[in-house]
Amino acid sequence: MGKLEGKTAIVTGAARGIGQQIAWKLAAEGADVAVCDLNDEWCAETVGKIEELGRKAIAIGVNVADSGEVDACVKKVQETFGKIDILVNNAGITKDGLLIRMSDEDWDAVLNVNLKGTFLFTRAVSRPMMRNKGADGSQLGGSIINIASVVGIMGNAGQANYTASKGGVIALTKTTAKELGSRNVRCNAVAPGFIQSKMTDVLPDDVKKAYMDTIPLKRFGTADDIAKCVAFLAGPDADYITGQIISVNGGMIG
Ligand SMILES: NC(=O)c1ccc[n+]([C@@H]2O[C@H](COP(=O)([O-])OP(=O)(O)OC[C@H]3O[C@@H](n4cnc5c(N)ncnc54)[C@H](O)[C@@H]3O)[C@@H](O)[C@H]2O)c1
Repeated sequence: MGKLEGKTAIVTGAARGIGQQIAWKLAAEGADVAVCDLNDEWCAETVGKIEELGRKAIAIGVNVADSGEVDACVKKVQETFGKIDILVNNAGITKDGLLIRMSDEDWDAVLNVNLKGTFLFTRAVSRPMMRNKGADGSQLGGSIINIASVVGIMGNAGQANYTASKGGVIALTKTTAKELGSRNVRCNAVAPGFIQSKMTDVLPDDVKKAYMDTIPLKRFGTADDIAKCVAFLAGPDADYITGQIISVNGGMIG
């Protein structure tokens, strides 16, 4: 029996990449999953594999930066699954450029998706999670996992908007843990290092080599490396872990 048997999860940005792998991993551990992304049709591949695993899945089109859409999404998940145990705030974008030339639009776009989106989903699931009770009246709570980034810890030239958004996600994670802890709602962040993905495929070879030189484990991470850590934080083995930022970066930084 999987460690997430009987649990229900929301994963944002789950149509592809790291979010897709997280959705599959949670389902493999027994969870039913709401697969959320900008367009529900993009979620078909993710949903199909979850169903092959014998779990339930629904695809929901939602812009994480739009509070009305986020609230409607959470309501739909509650109506479909009856409760929400796990939220993974994974949707994220980059719009890189040097600070000196960065437009207001590029700043706002990245902060709105990466940071505000994480806030909106966290706020929307807080009450449903606080209401989760066991048959004996015990406080079951829930688990919120935010996807941050190594550069949200160390900064990175050319990514003022992205690093600020991920630094904000880290602070938001710690505050959420403090506010919701008494109701057994845990909140942690995973800070990936350099993960092979569509987001990083586009980088020039010399930039990739420069990153590789800083990684003691001498390989780039995979989406599955992140998904395994998320599944751990979502489940009972992490029952006493909250407010933590777990780096999954091959040793890039301590
Ligand atoms: N790839 C890496 O090396 C790396 C490193 C550190 C952190 N991360 C973080 O991991 C997460 C996933 O990254 P990825 O590499 O899989 O990216 P990706 O671009 O492959 O996937 C991101 C997904 O989010 C969705 N999305 C974007 N904006 C959205 C919005 N407004 N509402 C709903 N969905 C939206 C996209 O449609 C896409 O399916 C992001 O938060 C990213 O910042 C990635």
